[in-house]
Amino acid sequence: MSAHISLAASCFIFPYFIVEGRRRREEIRSFPGVFRFSVDTMLGDLEALLRLGVRKIILFGVPDARQKNDEASAAYEEGNLVARAAGAVKKAFPHVTVMTDVCLCAYTRHGHCGILKKGKGSADKRATLEALAAMAMTHAAAGADWVAPSAMAKQQVAALREALDKGGYRRTEIMGYSAKFASNFYGPFRDAASCSPQFGDRRAYQLDYTKTDTAMALDEIAADINEGADMVMVKPALCYLDIIREAKRAFSKPLAAYNVSGEYAMVKSGARLGLWDEKKAVVEILCAIKRAGADFIISYHAKEAAGWLKESSGA
Ligand code: PBG
Repeated sequence: MSAHISLAASCFIFPYFIVEGRRRREEIRSFPGVFRFSVDTMLGDLEALLRLGVRKIILFGVPDARQKNDEASAAYEEGNLVARAAGAVKKAFPHVTVMTDVCLCAYTRHGHCGILKKGKGSADKRATLEALAAMAMTHAAAGADWVAPSAMAKQQVAALREALDKGGYRRTEIMGYSAKFASNFYGPFRDAASCSPQFGDRRAYQLDYTKTDTAMALDEIAADINEGADMVMVKPALCYLDIIREAKRAFSKPLAAYNVSGEYAMVKSGARLGLWDEKKAVVEILCAIKRAGADFIISYHAKEAAGWLKESSGA
């Protein structure tokens, strides 16, 4: 591999979907090779990940259907699923960087990312920001190092920063899902997190790729930085490599790219059909994201790719 593209296990952030219960490790139908873990089995899997040199993870809570409600209360209750997972990881492996996704879509029955006004389909902005801030506080209290608001609610980064500072969590950092497009490539994730919107779509709050030019995407990133984001993100990665490149040029904050579920599933499906060599295709894709300018790559390929990098380095 070229010495100029420093793809290494330390660039990767590996996503975990966490469910209630014990000894659960369930493969997701539309998402081959990706599992939902209960906290205990996740810790076992994480041990293997650490041996491969990947030390950063992002946690997504997948609550039971009966825990979902209009207030998304399971998202921010003390000692909830993600808080327990974060706490268990920090206890077992204190050197792991734990990031948590802060969004309400898996916690509401309607599957939208915020709280809706009673009897209406429109967002209740204040209630949404309060819930997101409370969710971030619950994760921070459990030991999360980074919280990552992904609801695309205006002022979400500022709301989290203010709440964390007031609550005594000044050192908890924020990764903004800053330029997040209303993409076709989130399908397997929505299956994994059971968070598909039950009506409408996400174009009201995620960026519309038919209307958003590079300057507008950069404005979104600048807004997150002004609100206090310590790291910014472009999501998805592959259709937006140009935005990654421009963001790297324009801003000095660490930059993450999210190689999303549909991008992963395309590679897997093609490999199953014999269209390409999976390992080579994955390395090509990850090199491209890195070359575009991402400092960190959130990817479901991270574990396998770290294994391949280790093999090829002869370690
Ligand atoms: C929650 C969220 C989504 C993803 C990450 N956080 C789904 C969405 O916005 O619909 C998708 C990630 C992926 O596809 O891997 N808002």
